Amino acid sequence: MTETMNGLHIVATGRSLPATVVTNEQMSHMVDTSDEWIVSRTGIRERRLCQGETNVQLASEAAAQALERAGIEKEALGACVVSTFTSDYGTPSVACMLQKKLALPQDMPSLDINAACSGFLYGLQVARGLLLQGEKRYALVVGSELLSRVVDFEDRSTCVLFGDGAGAAVVELDDRPYYSVMGAQGNDEVLYCPGIGNPRPFLHMAGGDVFRFAVDRIPRCIDALLSQSGLTLEQIDYVVCHQANERIIRHVVHKLGVPMEKFYMNLAKYGNTSSASIPIALDEMYCDGLLQPGMKIICVGFGGGFTWGGVLMEV
Ligand code: UT7
Repeated sequence: MTETMNGLHIVATGRSLPATVVTNEQMSHMVDTSDEWIVSRTGIRERRLCQGETNVQLASEAAAQALERAGIEKEALGACVVSTFTSDYGTPSVACMLQKKLALPQDMPSLDINAACSGFLYGLQVARGLLLQGEKRYALVVGSELLSRVVDFEDRSTCVLFGDGAGAAVVELDDRPYYSVMGAQGNDEVLYCPGIGNPRPFLHMAGGDVFRFAVDRIPRCIDALLSQSGLTLEQIDYVVCHQANERIIRHVVHKLGVPMEKFYMNLAKYGNTSSASIPIALDEMYCDGLLQPGMKIICVGFGGGFTWGGVLMEV
């Protein structure tokens, strides 16, 4: 856990979603499912799936938008961190391909990280660490996933849940409040995706176990951030959870006894986009004017690994 005056602040965000919308009704033509089952169990109504778009394409569109909105010179960047487990290549990384596509500076670390659905929050922490060791103030942090690449579209228990997309943020090292909590607990049985060379490289998930893990871990992350910062949940304007399942978020809201409106949700439109879900949500919130200077937000992610992460930041 970290408390420091060398905090991190989001300067601008961007997002990119594939053009193709696939509704629950359309999913019901692929597998034995229904709109009623998917909505009642998850809250998901549709998702975006790539039809030829690549991970690098989504990531670079989101990143270009964030950079343009930030209005900084690319030379001011001191790091590029991309969170993904669905990269186009084993190597080069998506981060290196962003450097190529967006002509990012060469004199900075550019790397991909994999912490599954907690990845964007791990990415913020990695970027902050790299900035603290260097001389530049700004970093590009991206969550980009092409989950349709690892989803078995014959497995109804997983294929209805996931979508593709990317979200990006330009972040700046400054002295606004920033608190973080990250962790991992090795588990390759409940939620895993076999690597290169496996004949069936699909995502496997015991949904009930992940559900129980999430509803236990999210409130613990929030509590840890509140106790580090000395703030109460009433002083937090929004909580942005990894967008996996509306029922998970409702459980957490119930446990914490706070109004539902404090928890932002957009999973009905995109499904679970893994490490892209939090930056996509943040971008929507900025674009809709929900996030105003001085507000305080908590973001919490959980996912394969198991991993978890949370940050408390000032807008
Ligand atoms: O970012 C990664 C994090 N992942 C998650 O957060 C996932 C967390 N878990 C969940 O969201 C929920 O566990 C699920 C939505 C995945 C599943 O909900 P559930 O209430 O735990 O359902 P279940 O797995 O217990 O399945 C209940 C029934 C089963 O049928 P039987 O055995 O009771 O006859 C399944 O075969 O629902 C069936 N089922 C489906 N039926 C229609 C499973 N998938 C489907 C489907 N359509 N798509």
